[in-house]
Amino acid sequence: MRMYDIIEKKRDGNVLSFDELKYFIDGYCSGEIPDYQASALLMAAFIKGLNRVETADLTIIMADSGDKIDLSSIPGIKVDKHSTGGVGDKTTLVVAPIVAACGVPVAKMSGRGLGHTGGTIDKLESIPGFRTSLGMDEFLANVKEIGLSIACQTGNLAPADKKLYALRDVTATVNNTSLIASSIMSKKLASGADSIVLDVKTGSGAFMKTFEDSAALARTMIEIGESLGRRTSALITDMNMPLGNAVGNSLEVIEAIDTLKGKGPEDLKRLCIELAARMLEGAGKGSYEKCIEMVEQCIFDGSALRKFSELIKRQNGNHEVIECYKIFGESMYVYEYRAPCDGFIESIKTDSLGIVSMILGAGRENKESQIDYTAGLILKKKTYDKVNKGDLVTKLYTNNKDSISKAVEILESSINFSNDKPIARPLILAYMDSLGVKRFV
Ligand code: URA
Repeated sequence: MRMYDIIEKKRDGNVLSFDELKYFIDGYCSGEIPDYQASALLMAAFIKGLNRVETADLTIIMADSGDKIDLSSIPGIKVDKHSTGGVGDKTTLVVAPIVAACGVPVAKMSGRGLGHTGGTIDKLESIPGFRTSLGMDEFLANVKEIGLSIACQTGNLAPADKKLYALRDVTATVNNTSLIASSIMSKKLASGADSIVLDVKTGSGAFMKTFEDSAALARTMIEIGESLGRRTSALITDMNMPLGNAVGNSLEVIEAIDTLKGKGPEDLKRLCIELAARMLEGAGKGSYEKCIEMVEQCIFDGSALRKFSELIKRQNGNHEVIECYKIFGESMYVYEYRAPCDGFIESIKTDSLGIVSMILGAGRENKESQIDYTAGLILKKKTYDKVNKGDLVTKLYTNNKDSISKAVEILESSINFSNDKPIARPLILAYMDSLGVKRFV
């Protein structure tokens, strides 16, 4: 087999076999196939597309390229969730303890943030002492003993995807349904859960800007998951504004704790309840309605919050943060951005707000950047809200005074005001599973 022939075949719009895709992935991982040939194939696949079988084959080959987590020693149906990424998305911090408190084990491998999106691992590490680098034995022991563990993804989980994703990032080949679906699902398959709930974001802060593209991505991932024996469902959710009000690591953990106390922002609470209920449903805990009741009950009776506290203690964090937010520390500089006019907030460029937070110190511009855990922003007004000139819209937090002017410049151009009340778009647009799509709009 020759890489040249494989590139030519895809360039001409033909279907690649399992063996040809495996030859490519194996050769690229071992270093025998150079970046320029891999880039050419990725671009050909981007333009000509991969069909369902090619997409599923690529997923399996990438999932098999490294370690696979064996959760079989943990009794019961293990569930996982995945969000396609967004700004202010702290749902894992809320949903994982809820699901574990309802008796369904959660063994979650999460990532760090890069660019405008945050990562669960950075957020958890803003809790003083919290350890996310766990050996496999410790990770599994935590799940067996307290029903929950959240750890930093090992370097050898679907390594082919890691290498390929880095190449896609610099060759304008990220935004393709088959490539995104195989990338996400290869990691989910290697993570070992029996049932997967996907949160596919749509809108200005998401990879997929339209409902149709997001639904196509969700459908592809559901087909892959189901064809490999994993019960898979998806929510299509709006990312035309950040989720909740907080963006930035400790600010988001505080908001997640508030939500577990039943006091969080409505949009975050709503999505967390929905995701947790779908995860319980996927674990066979009963009807959707019964699962919603279970979720609401464990927030109401405090058991979900206690589970989060147990997780923090178990992974060496200071669990007193739950009652005393001051332990997180506070940023030295706070800037208040106020409404420049009367009217309504018509739209927010969500990805730009992620960049504002990154510039303030909350995110990484490159892999080596140091994170400022207390930096970020709090939205006091969001899309569709009425404002009067001078009202507080956003509070920025940082320890780097020099970052403020750049952050404010981007912030000002990210929020659009209008005289007329905009038509509100619902947060949860659809639920999808192997049976079809249920649209809520
Ligand atoms: N997230 C992933 O893990 N992979 C992609 O290709 C896009 C988003």
